[in-house]
Amino acid sequence: MRNNPQTSDSFTLISGLAHELDSPLKSILARTRKLINDYKSRDFEFISYKDFKVIIATLEQIERQLEHCSQTTSRMMFVGKRQALLGENNCRINDIIRSVINEMGRQLESSRIKLTARLGKDLPKVTVGPIECHQIIHNVIINAVQAMPGGGTIKVKTSLDKAYGLVDIDVTDEGVGITPDHLPKVFEPFFTTKERGVEKSAGLGLSIIYSIINAAGGSIHIKSSLRKGTTVQISLPVYKSK
Ligand SMILES: Nc1ncnc2c1ncn2[C@@H]1O[C@H](COP(=O)(O)OP(=O)(O)O)[C@@H](O)[C@H]1O
Ligand SMILES: [Mg+2]
Repeated sequence: MRNNPQTSDSFTLISGLAHELDSPLKSILARTRKLINDYKSRDFEFISYKDFKVIIATLEQIERQLEHCSQTTSRMMFVGKRQALLGENNCRINDIIRSVINEMGRQLESSRIKLTARLGKDLPKVTVGPIECHQIIHNVIINAVQAMPGGGTIKVKTSLDKAYGLVDIDVTDEGVGITPDHLPKVFEPFFTTKERGVEKSAGLGLSIIYSIINAAGGSIHIKSSLRKGTTVQISLPVYKSK
């Protein structure tokens, strides 16, 4: 049997979302209330330059918090249900891997990361579109890079499992690894061990990948050994043209 044991159910999705939005919303509320209380009884003419600076600074803080909320809800649109597919629903995974490696070349070099790819010859197409496959490969490689702050090697391997009609993709790093108590949580939306915040980690990468792969009838498994490294094993069904 080759199926997906690790799931992110809608309850963790909803409580994760609530948790993620709760603290910026509380902060926006508190700051807005303070602004109203401090200034509602003041005559506009008596607002000094110092007051004006305080008002602008507070508005900027509110803007940052709102941006975080807005980014969170935008990201959520990818989770739980697959984005409406515009265009192709199949692609050649090796082509996607080559283009991701190409795009990330500079970043890999500056992070002192060597990436080796052993790509199976003449692999059939998979039943996931090029945009989603790009997202899958990009996210997994980014996680591998982030797991090796001192540099190291990432190995990408693709092969065909003829018996099951699957294309297997393995991405192995030599990074920090995942603790056994974190491992069951990594597919949960908003689970992250990294610094959170605007333009930082949202803990949504693997949950987005999971929902894309699951919708396509594929599977994703993670094996990890603390301080030794992690392997992400993805299987995608072979595309059969009608
Ligand atoms: N290759 C990896 N090595 C070590 N830990 C990983 C790896 N991939 C994922 N993780 C763990 O899984 C968590 C969730 O990953 P992800 O959903 O991509 O969110 P994010 O990268 O924003 O934290 C990460 O914070 C990290 O703890
Ligand atoms: Mg990530």
